[in-house]
Amino acid sequence: MLLRTVARRSFSWITALGLLVVMLAACSTDQYPQSTLLPRGDFAKIADDLLDTTVRWALLVFVLVEGVLLYAIFRFRGKSGDPEPHQTHGNTTVEVIWTVIPALILAAIAVPTVRAIFQTNAVPGKDALTIEVVGHQWWWEFRYPEFNLTTANEMHVPTGRTVSLRMGSNDVIHSFWVPQFAAKRDVFPNRETRMWFTAQAEGNYPGQCAEFCGIQHGRMAHRIVAQNPEEFQAWVAHMQTLSGKPGATPAGVQQYAEGEKLFTGKGCIACHSFTAVNAPKGMVGPNLANVGSRSYIAAGTLKNTDENLARWIRDPQGIKKGVLMPNLGVTEAEAQALVAYLRAHK
Ligand code: CUA
Repeated sequence: MLLRTVARRSFSWITALGLLVVMLAACSTDQYPQSTLLPRGDFAKIADDLLDTTVRWALLVFVLVEGVLLYAIFRFRGKSGDPEPHQTHGNTTVEVIWTVIPALILAAIAVPTVRAIFQTNAVPGKDALTIEVVGHQWWWEFRYPEFNLTTANEMHVPTGRTVSLRMGSNDVIHSFWVPQFAAKRDVFPNRETRMWFTAQAEGNYPGQCAEFCGIQHGRMAHRIVAQNPEEFQAWVAHMQTLSGKPGATPAGVQQYAEGEKLFTGKGCIACHSFTAVNAPKGMVGPNLANVGSRSYIAAGTLKNTDENLARWIRDPQGIKKGVLMPNLGVTEAEAQALVAYLRAHK
């Protein structure tokens, strides 16, 4: 009887442990790159180290306290017929010990925490690359005053050089979040907030608005494209050639010309600019200078395929309800021409 109970209990423990292992395996950060647990920059590393320190202390406390608790439960378990245990009230020595130990542990966590707060709030040096970030309902504008460039939703940064973000909002409060490089910072209208980070690994990293800013808050994503300094310089040089017309003669010239006409005729031109250099300020819609080569459209909502681009042009309200871009009654053929036109702007 006793054996069977023990067997049943160990079986349920083994099942629980097995489930836990499976659950933890599902938490693998590789599948979910929008994670602060995979730092790829110095700022994010500071925060991650702090988390590690805190978790280590918490684990130590957990193991010690639970260990003593379990020991006491089994070692001093009462049996029927035991006399009333000896009653005590207060023990100054023990009370002093269990007050001092947590105070010391908190101090050990507080010191690196305060240091991290100062480090992450420091103003970067003069050699940092300044990027102006402007939040819009619901997309991100990025300006590079050093190169006189503007782009949207995909921020290119060089690895190894600190980026100094100067951020604001065009409408409501948003929060710029770059999980693998830095942290979250709210952006406000008429007030500048700052953040910095140094990308340490090349790649294409997702980020997301992290402050509820209206019904399409969830579709206000962005990408950080971290490139080695040479590739970044090449990107800058390429962007500086984008002043409205694509350089090379685009494929499907007929469709392209038709698309160009529609872009003006349908009024798209009132909200979007194709000029990366000296881009006009205060445009309602995202800058489209290199839209043809971006990985996503509609602020991280759709992969930038011809099919998705056509869908978006025809029915932005169906895909991202409430977005400022109206449905313009574009036919399928017109959408194809517009796609050819937009695709040529790489
Ligand atoms: Cu912007 Cu949420």
